[in-house]
Amino acid sequence: MNNNRNELRGILRRRFPREHGQLLPALHFLQHEFGYLPDWAMEVVGWHLGIPSSEVYGAATSYTELRIDKPGEHVIRICTGLSCLLNGGGRLMEQARAALGGNSDDGIPGDAVTLEESPCGFLCGVAPAVEVDGVWQGKATPQSLAAVLKEVSS
Ligand code: FES
Repeated sequence: MNNNRNELRGILRRRFPREHGQLLPALHFLQHEFGYLPDWAMEVVGWHLGIPSSEVYGAATSYTELRIDKPGEHVIRICTGLSCLLNGGGRLMEQARAALGGNSDDGIPGDAVTLEESPCGFLCGVAPAVEVDGVWQGKATPQSLAAVLKEVSS
């Protein structure tokens, strides 16, 4: 489905009853389908459910698992929960920012790599933890992160 409003409308009609309570399930569907929530698709969801765009956008920005910006080809998330911070997660984030040239959490240093902080990934026993394209790695080190950064940047 590529920016096809009519196709999305048809899917929404079949899968999501026109009820306010379907907003989050529909947004999760978009997230799964596109990897983020395109503006045009959120508009279609709002139209389908009869919910104002401002409310759709508000819901989309209230949940960390939903993404409103198109991610890069690779997504690196570094856990900055307490255990990871105490075990070097903050330094790993600084290292990644410096290597990728970005300096903000939502920063998309380029189209290739998206770097984000992550809340606790529930791998505290092997902190610090880094997630690369949906796969978590525990006991991350500056060396292992450098290898990841080299791989995704090439
Ligand atoms: S604090 Fe990082 S995995 Fe829990």
